[in-house]
Amino acid sequence: MNKIGIFYGTEKGMTEAMAQVMYRVLGDDIASEPVNVNQAKVSDLLQYKALILGIPSYGVGELPGRTTGSQEGNWEEFLFRLDDADLSGKRIALFGLGNQQKYYDRFASSLIHLYQHFVAYGAEVIGAWSIEGYHFSRSHSVINNQFVGLVLDHHTQPEMTKDRITGWLDQIKPDLLEKLN
Ligand SMILES: Cc1cc2nc3c(=O)[nH]c(=O)nc-3n(C[C@H](O)[C@H](O)[C@H](O)COP(=O)(O)O)c2cc1C
Repeated sequence: MNKIGIFYGTEKGMTEAMAQVMYRVLGDDIASEPVNVNQAKVSDLLQYKALILGIPSYGVGELPGRTTGSQEGNWEEFLFRLDDADLSGKRIALFGLGNQQKYYDRFASSLIHLYQHFVAYGAEVIGAWSIEGYHFSRSHSVINNQFVGLVLDHHTQPEMTKDRITGWLDQIKPDLLEKLN
């Protein structure tokens, strides 16, 4: 597929809303319409070489899914189906949602699970993001003083969301487009 694939998991719709903003900013000439992973087949994702994947946070040590109370299915179920897929050659940028006031000691920590899974599948993960401007005591999604992907907190910093998304997309777009040629 000669476009950027956008897939997300969501419980309350916020991660989907963020994926839709990214889709609108990128434009439908280079990006495909975002797909909920609970509606996606493994082959839907595997057809892309360049991907943006989004995940909300629901606890530490947990992927959102049945384990965290999801009724509809989320990344936990999709990754189970993805199993031991070979994703070498794929370039993937990740974003995660959280609430740094309420969950300051485990902020946006589900993102690390997505990162670890896709690295283990052999994908190249890009799009690390500065922790500056966020206020939290602990996040499992920080490696070398950076988040492993874009982190959005639309609950307590809604005014920063748009600039964070456009800044991050400017950063990752050239690397993702390289994969489309
Ligand atoms: C039960 C519950 C647990 C949550 N756990 C965390 C958490 O551990 N860390 C965090 O940063 N945010 C946590 N959140 C906040 C969500 O990640 C945040 O509301 C996110 O925007 C939800 O995205 P969604 O609407 O796509 O499901 C939690 C929210 C709920 C309702």
